[in-house]
Amino acid sequence: MDVIDTDIAIVGAGGAGLRAAIAIAEADPKIRVALISKVYPMRSHTCAAEGGAAGVARDNDTLDNHFNDTVGGGDWLTDQDAVEEFVVEAPKQLTRIEQWGCPWSRTPDGKVAVRPFGGMKIERTWYAADKTGFHILHTLFQTSLKYPSIQRYDEFYSVDLMVENGACRGVTAIEIRTGNVILFKARAVIICSGGGGRIFPFTTNGAIKTGDGMAMAYRAGVPLKDMEFVQYHPTGLPGTGILLTEGCRGEGGVLRNKDGRRYLEDYGLGPADPWPRKKAMELGPRDRLSQAFWHEQKKGNTIDTKWGPCIHLDMTHLGEALISERLPFVRDLAKSYLGIDMVTDPVPVRPVVHYMMGGIHTDKHGATPLAGLYAAGECACVSINGANRLGSNSLTELLVFGTRAGESAVAHVHGTAAPGDAAVVERQGADSEKRVQALLAGGSGTESVAGLRSEMLHTMEEGCGIYREEASMQVTADVISSLRERVKSVRLKDCSRVFNTALVQALELQSMIEVCSALTTSALLRTESRGSHQRLDYEKRDDEKFLCHSMAHYDPKGPPKIDYLDVIITKSQPAERLYGAAAEAAEAAKKAAQPAAE
Ligand code: FUM
Repeated sequence: MDVIDTDIAIVGAGGAGLRAAIAIAEADPKIRVALISKVYPMRSHTCAAEGGAAGVARDNDTLDNHFNDTVGGGDWLTDQDAVEEFVVEAPKQLTRIEQWGCPWSRTPDGKVAVRPFGGMKIERTWYAADKTGFHILHTLFQTSLKYPSIQRYDEFYSVDLMVENGACRGVTAIEIRTGNVILFKARAVIICSGGGGRIFPFTTNGAIKTGDGMAMAYRAGVPLKDMEFVQYHPTGLPGTGILLTEGCRGEGGVLRNKDGRRYLEDYGLGPADPWPRKKAMELGPRDRLSQAFWHEQKKGNTIDTKWGPCIHLDMTHLGEALISERLPFVRDLAKSYLGIDMVTDPVPVRPVVHYMMGGIHTDKHGATPLAGLYAAGECACVSINGANRLGSNSLTELLVFGTRAGESAVAHVHGTAAPGDAAVVERQGADSEKRVQALLAGGSGTESVAGLRSEMLHTMEEGCGIYREEASMQVTADVISSLRERVKSVRLKDCSRVFNTALVQALELQSMIEVCSALTTSALLRTESRGSHQRLDYEKRDDEKFLCHSMAHYDPKGPPKIDYLDVIITKSQPAERLYGAAAEAAEAAKKAAQPAAE
């Protein structure tokens, strides 16, 4: 087996991975970084983020506002110490990447432009038209190129973590071009491999988002935290699931049902003040908007389209100049995929799986419980997102916590002795090779990857969608358990080594099934409704029992064991989540109750 010796291996070269690599190179140029990515870095999913990145930018805003919006938006399941530090670092990171070339949109007087976003009660989302992820990724990629210590391994699929003596010692990866399994011996590993939205059939997530890094850490004994919390974005393009950014609503777009009504006022987000209304309604949090769609559908208020039930995103009052300047990409997408010009006609949209709040358990420094293993970005759960992430916090999150994970790994490398027992690590590397050989051997297996994947997608949508209940979730959990067995009998049609995408897809399917197993088991046991986890059989939030993170621990023989970890609360006690006029009334009542200043 080929062995590559490095100091820090990073799995994933999207926004978080690149940011971590740069942080390492800045901290110590002598540290060798192996940046391992399933795809060429500019094809990472960060590229698909459209609307912007949150950070306090104006005198009318405060760090406390950002903190409160994030904690309340997350239905009090966030760790508040991490959120406090996140909001402080957010504007610094956004300024930093501007210095590296990120072309933030600007106001006519030269200030960085910010737009309103869902669940943020004031505008604080920095944007680069509607291609923010693309520009951030490009900025980080070009910046990374100036550091010779960063060695890239593009189109390498990571397989297993090496663990010896209670510490992470490296990772194996398939060089997709040759099919060779390579052992990267390292003193620290950082996983930045993105989420796993591809476990659902209708998603904004690119085909690469198959939860590989989550599954890899999980199999190595690191718990997956809060996996039951899956975010639906309210405005996906029907048919493809392509994202129509929240920036559409931030710029004044409204949602209408089949009668042309702005129905969100019926769901505690109103009143439907005339456009432009900057607070709530269409700028409520994503969980609430997606749940409102579900209710409208039940009431028969959605619009029947050839792609199924939709509602209308209406931008026709905004005018061509504004749309062309701030939302040119989504205009193009709606034209290309639906043949609709949003300047003149409303666009049908529906909720779409977008983001996983849960992931690899880390602390606020990006450290997992396994020494030498770190994680950042969507694959990680710090947790600053709790039960529902606010749009535009994730691009900032990957900058803040990508940096922290890189810096923590540097400290670890400076503090540790040389890698442990090479023979043990090499033996584990050989196990990865055996996994690959078993798949390539063909054998007597009867299952196909496509067949199992489609059963997985179907059952996840049936049991773990916007609203959940025990009976259907249990069916899903049972199907996933059986898929876990059946995936062992997969037979590949292509058994060659060279650029074998069928092999990669088989390994991805194994990862996805493990992620589904952690998700369904955690969801079944959380008998309450909170944020994106809404149960028809337990409609209320239950802070007595469930103000805590669920921790799924891998068990090769069956579903995971779940235990719970307290949420960290520093200054915001759980309260009712209020938006729109209700929030304003509560705020006014609070002010009135305060003793008058002397
Ligand atoms: O709607 C959007 O542009 C998505 C942003 C996000 O998920 O943060």
